[in-house]
Amino acid sequence: MDKNLIDSFPVDWEDDNYVTRREFLKFGTVASGAFAVGSVGIAAWGRARENGPSFEPRMIALTGDIEPGNALPFNFPREKDLALLIQKPDGEFVAYARRCTHLSCPVVYEAAQSRLFCPCHNGAFSVEDGSVLQGPPPHPIPQIEIEIRGDEIWAIGVKLHGGHA
Ligand code: FES
Repeated sequence: MDKNLIDSFPVDWEDDNYVTRREFLKFGTVASGAFAVGSVGIAAWGRARENGPSFEPRMIALTGDIEPGNALPFNFPREKDLALLIQKPDGEFVAYARRCTHLSCPVVYEAAQSRLFCPCHNGAFSVEDGSVLQGPPPHPIPQIEIEIRGDEIWAIGVKLHGGHA
């Protein structure tokens, strides 16, 4: 092969292959880490369910803070757990974890479709009970149990796959 041509492409096939493998492993490590973090969070909720409530009920909003057909983010049961308070168009309040059960992307409330939508892989959950409507999520999205106390909305527990935490 012409030496000038070789100098124009200083990385030979072996090095190039090595870089590709290294980059691939780096991506794999990051993806595995993200999956592990999501799994640990879901496992923590699972343990909470087995061991009974291990978190305090918390006032998350006033009824006047949200309007029908809208959602308000909050954190529950731990400060780092993302959740969504939703007031359905009929006025009923419901709340769900905000992390998709597939790979933990944050879901958004879509009132017109009565669903929580995950834009990462087009997953969707019913706003009625958290069941999977479409896409790759393997489980329903956990429901946060709420209680209306006067004009205050309290998060009091987490419901997983039909059970309670
Ligand atoms: S992360 Fe939600 S569908 Fe994949």
